Amino acid sequence: MEIREERAADAAAVRGVHETAFGGDGAKVADLNDALRATLAESAGLSLVAIEGGEVVGHVLFTTSLLDAPRRLAEVQVLSPVGVRPEKQRRGVGSALIRRGLEILDERSVPLVFLEGDPAYYRRLGFRPGGGLGFRKPSLRIPDAAFQVYPLAAHEPWMTGTLVYSPVFWQHDCVGLRDPEP
Ligand SMILES: CC(C)(COP(=O)(O)OP(=O)(O)OC[C@H]1O[C@@H](n2cnc3c(N)ncnc32)[C@H](O)[C@@H]1OP(=O)(O)O)[C@@H](O)C(=O)NCCC(=O)NCCS
Repeated sequence: MEIREERAADAAAVRGVHETAFGGDGAKVADLNDALRATLAESAGLSLVAIEGGEVVGHVLFTTSLLDAPRRLAEVQVLSPVGVRPEKQRRGVGSALIRRGLEILDERSVPLVFLEGDPAYYRRLGFRPGGGLGFRKPSLRIPDAAFQVYPLAAHEPWMTGTLVYSPVFWQHDCVGLRDPEP
């Protein structure tokens, strides 16, 4: 398996990854991904694909959001989405994508990477509950355990406070959990 930065020609395959990986939410996540990717032209971020047999089998995207720290606003990265084609899951592809992404962002002096997700999966990759480290989640609809953070070498003690998601997450209503329709 090869992991490399996404190229323009990968976009349709990446869409296919998220459409299949996320099942019923697939189109919504793929739309979110397309909109977030479009922000990479003007703000920092990282889009990585996993290639096997010449095919895109997994994808992870990191984009810029803000941390409302006491001293000033600080740019941080948010990991979303990450997906692996269903028939390729549980073989280390997702972990490899995330680990490589964290390495590259560390080299680029990014201080913090946040995400919403299942702690059972992300704990083993080194993510920790954000609340326990002095961070506040961007919505009360995110379960405490799901709000996680990975501090990198560039993190400094003053960088605490509230994560402020970039507008794309709100425009696509992809923040936290909503009550089910009656
Ligand atoms: C989550 C996902 C990206 C993980 O990628 P992957 O390549 O399947 O994962 P890896 O092979 O690196 O790691 C697999 C391990 O993580 C565990 N794991 C996978 N998904 C998990 C989840 N949602 N919750 C808890 N554990 C999970 C598996 O149990 C497995 O451990 P095991 O082999 O010891 O049982 C992938 O399963 C996926 O695309 N899922 C659907 C989309 C999704 O939920 N994305 C994340 C949203 S936050």
